[in-house]
Amino acid sequence: MALTTAATTALRKCDLNGIETWQKYAAMRPRIPRRQRPPLKFEFMHTTELPPAPSAEPSVRQITKQIIKPVGRNVRDALLFCGLWPKLKDTDRILLDQKIFPYFLQRNDFQNILFVGCHWYTWQYNKVFANKNYSTLEIERQRARYGAKHHVIGSVEDVADHYLPGSLDLVLFLGVIGWGLEDRDVANRAIHGFHRVLRPGGALIVGWDDVPEHKPFALSELDGLDKFSSWTFPPLGSDEHVCDHDLRHTFNFYLADKTSPADA
Ligand SMILES: C[S@@+](CC[C@H](N)C(=O)[O-])C[C@H]1O[C@@H](n2cnc3c(N)ncnc32)[C@H](O)[C@@H]1O
Repeated sequence: MALTTAATTALRKCDLNGIETWQKYAAMRPRIPRRQRPPLKFEFMHTTELPPAPSAEPSVRQITKQIIKPVGRNVRDALLFCGLWPKLKDTDRILLDQKIFPYFLQRNDFQNILFVGCHWYTWQYNKVFANKNYSTLEIERQRARYGAKHHVIGSVEDVADHYLPGSLDLVLFLGVIGWGLEDRDVANRAIHGFHRVLRPGGALIVGWDDVPEHKPFALSELDGLDKFSSWTFPPLGSDEHVCDHDLRHTFNFYLADKTSPADA
C-alpha cells in the first residue's frame, strides 16, 4: 500500500530520528479544521487480486443465487412456452426475422435446416420452421428444451457424426463463436463438418460479434471456409452484413462448393 507523501516523509523522519522527531513534526504541522481537510487517498500497490478467504459455508448470496436462478429460469420458460415472453429486439434478430428467415421459408430447395446453439430466444424458431425439417445442435444438455424435435446434444465439431453427408440444405451457425466456442481448431473442424453434411450448393450462414470480447479469432483463420464460396445473399445484396449495434453482430453468407461431400 502506498502512503500519502506527507505520511511517507513523516515516517522517514521517524525512522531516522526516533519518535521524538515524529512528535515534533506533528506539533509543527499547521492544524487544518477537519471539515476543510481533503479526503484521505490510499493507493494500493497490489496488482494482483488476493484470492477470497476459503469458507466452508456457502454465502447467503450463493444460496440465493442457487435458489432464485432456477426458479427465475422456470418462470421465464413457462411464460415463453405460453407465448407470453417477449422476443429479442436487437437488430440482428430483426434481420433474421425480416430478411433471412423469410428468404429460406419461401425457397423449396431449402428444406433440411440445422440451427447450431440454442437458448430461450431460439425456442421460437421451432414455430418459424414448422414446415421444414428443422433440427438443432447444442452442447449444453439443459438447453435441449429450446431445441427442435430432432435435437442433438453435442459439440458442433462432431456435426458430421450426427448427419449424413450431403443431407442438409442450410446451416445457421450464429452467435456460437465467441460465446462458448473459443477454440479456432474446434471451429475449423465444425466448418469442415458443415461442408460434409451440406449438399453441394447448400448454404452456410456464420454470425459472429465483431468486438474483442467475443472474437477469439478471425473467420479468415478458418481454412475450412476455403471449401465454400462467398454468397451474395439476395435480400441484402451482399455476402457480409454488419448490424448496427454495440456487439457489431456480423453475418457472412456462403455456399458449399459443388464438390461431392464424400470427397470433402
Ligand atoms: C449466445 S448462444 C447463441 C444461440 C443461438 N445460436 C443464436 O441464435 O444466437 C451460444 C450457444 O452456443 C452454444 N455452444 C457453445 N459452444 C458450442 C459447441 N462447441 N457446440 C455446440 N454448441 C455450442 C452455447 O452453449 C450457447 O447455448
